[in-house]
Amino acid sequence: MKPEELVQHALKAREKAYAPYSHFKVGAAILTDDGEVFTGCNVENASYGLTVCAERVALFKAVSLDKRNFSAIAIFAGTDDYCSPCGACRQVLAEFGGSTKVYMANRKGEYREMTVAQLLPAAFNLEM
Ligand code: THU
Repeated sequence: MKPEELVQHALKAREKAYAPYSHFKVGAAILTDDGEVFTGCNVENASYGLTVCAERVALFKAVSLDKRNFSAIAIFAGTDDYCSPCGACRQVLAEFGGSTKVYMANRKGEYREMTVAQLLPAAFNLEM
């Protein structure tokens, strides 16, 4: 699948974002090695710290359906700048491999590409 297509899935997923507090809506779409796409949006809570980012919603949907190998994830927030994943999401993505490509899109659908390992060098793991 072309990166642009995965970005479009993220754009579409953003429509479902539940963000009544920040009004910052995010969509994500993660691509499995076998070509399946799982989407997610951010889900906020009145107890702000319980909010879950779009990236983790997409990833957890996939993992909960037995998918563990990912080739790419796209993030779209309708922003002028490329939308970068937060530190917590980087760590959660790193759990499933540093080589996953991250397409950080802007509102025009243009994107910047980095791997999870590039975004989170020296990630925590238990094999230290
Ligand atoms: N958010 C995401 O969904 N993904 C990110 O990578 C950064 C932030 C959400 C969390 C919160 O609902 C809103 O954006 C503002 O921080």
